[in-house]
Amino acid sequence: MADNKIIEVKDLAVRYGDRTILENVNFQINRGEIFVIVGGSGCGKSTLLRQLIGLETPTKGDIYFENINFTSADKKQKNQILRRFGVLFQSSGLFASMTLAENIALVLEKYTDLPEDKIEKIIEMKLDAVGLNGFQDFLPSEISGGMKKRAAFARSMALDPDVLFFDEPSSGLDPVTSASLDELIVQINRGLGTTMVIVSHDLASILSVAHRIIMLDKSQKGIIAAGTPDELRNSPDERVYNFFNRIAS
Ligand SMILES: Nc1ncnc2c1ncn2[C@@H]1O[C@H](COP(=O)(O)OP(=O)(O)O)[C@@H](O)[C@H]1O
Ligand SMILES: [Mg+2]
Repeated sequence: MADNKIIEVKDLAVRYGDRTILENVNFQINRGEIFVIVGGSGCGKSTLLRQLIGLETPTKGDIYFENINFTSADKKQKNQILRRFGVLFQSSGLFASMTLAENIALVLEKYTDLPEDKIEKIIEMKLDAVGLNGFQDFLPSEISGGMKKRAAFARSMALDPDVLFFDEPSSGLDPVTSASLDELIVQINRGLGTTMVIVSHDLASILSVAHRIIMLDKSQKGIIAAGTPDELRNSPDERVYNFFNRIAS
């Protein structure tokens, strides 16, 4: 069978001091899928995401990217892997004093030796891809929250990443804007085959984008369910069933 995994998490544990947040966490993310990490507030979703993008190192266990042990990789190897990741945090993270074009240029100038005209071309393409054609000279403060997310999305795609990570992409957005961001995620995933790893607790959004889901639980300190949206909606586990069928828990 073809090995389709792009990321693998093996026996991960995360402790802060003597407090265990995650333990015995095992899963894999397949190339080209939209993989969603769900669970209630404080169950460790953002913690897990920070592990996946190498911002923090595991207390125990290993994370593999394309079968390379990312956790024990040296600095150079780690940077090569990080170069292939795009990340969108909860707040857009755009630099307020820079135009959208300058925000994207910053990434391209830092990580490539491309000449200015090529950089301009890429900026145009990326803004176009997120529906922000013509907004390159706007400052973040001059556009709406939804547009800021799109601009941050464009910036995270500047280096044509293999994997895009999102932490709560729809937080702070109204349902319509949030739905259009979901559409964009699906469209980019289909068009470019970019693997998407999304942390979310927005059920409508989860069900409209996810190919596969893992659900974390605070008292379990780890995964309580894994599968397709349909599988989780029909889960025999009450906690999972309630979450996916929106019964207050
Ligand atoms: N750097 C940290 N130091 C200590 N505790 C932390 C740290 N980061 C997160 N936590 C704790 O870990 C738990 C999970 O947090 P988090 O991953 O942010 O949850 P979620 O994103 O699912 O809401 C919380 O109880 C939080 O207080
Ligand atoms: Mg979080």
